[in-house]
Amino acid sequence: MGAYPYKRQMKKVTTSTFRKMKGNEKITMITAYDYPTAKIVDEAGIDSILVGDSLGMTILGYDSTVYVTMDDMLHHTKAVTRGASRALVIADMPFLSYNTGERDALINAGRLISEGGAGAVKLEGGKRVCPVIKAMTDAGIPVCGHIGLTPQSVLQFGGNFIQGKTDETAQRLIDDAKALEEAGVFAIVAECVPHGLGKLITESVSVPVIGIGAGVDCDGQVLVIHDLIGMYQGRVPSFVKQYAQVNPIISDAVSSYINDVKQSVFPDEEHWF
Ligand code: KIV
Repeated sequence: MGAYPYKRQMKKVTTSTFRKMKGNEKITMITAYDYPTAKIVDEAGIDSILVGDSLGMTILGYDSTVYVTMDDMLHHTKAVTRGASRALVIADMPFLSYNTGERDALINAGRLISEGGAGAVKLEGGKRVCPVIKAMTDAGIPVCGHIGLTPQSVLQFGGNFIQGKTDETAQRLIDDAKALEEAGVFAIVAECVPHGLGKLITESVSVPVIGIGAGVDCDGQVLVIHDLIGMYQGRVPSFVKQYAQVNPIISDAVSSYINDVKQSVFPDEEHWF
């Protein structure tokens, strides 16, 4: 076996693969928002690509996800699905694309799947969004839930904080996870909860729980790629492990190019006709 055994598994990952992986193999998920990145992470062997509405910050320069539109999500989902051949692509449903009623949720999720090519959609919320999720799963749409810190509620909560710190709020999150399972989700993202609660949530449902800032006992992990590779200018959350620092590499390359052009060193005979 080489250093990266996961690269060899070419069978397409589906929602049913996710279910089979619970308790047997950790699920890896990462965000991507464009074709080349999707291709790189897919070929590296990632199980799932999340076209997160975090693209509002990482790609579009907003300070929150609430400004992201369906058009934004469709545009980026289409690019990602062109680049991914093995990983399950999950597209985020943006702010107010599902909370305005079952009909809107069905139409918008349907667009992400039939026009965008996504294999599933993700939306934020617990019990409160279960009627909508039930309608979607009844219609054959694979839905991933998202509980704990739910960034689309930032305006309501006045910031992004760790969730489930008291017994009462922890129990509410466990109840939310159970309600989501009952409504038919195939997986749940649990964001920014104490690691002990991440374990409890994972043990209380039969669908896989993918953690982000939720400890090691979840069934899988998800991170925002710009945080992981050091390509984001903003604050990186403390739960992120940075595996590379790409910003200085790009900056150095561009500085060298500027210098070469200014000095008439580029193009040279190797690079002209
Ligand atoms: O939008 C996103 O990238 C997400 C992850 C942080 C889970 O929802």
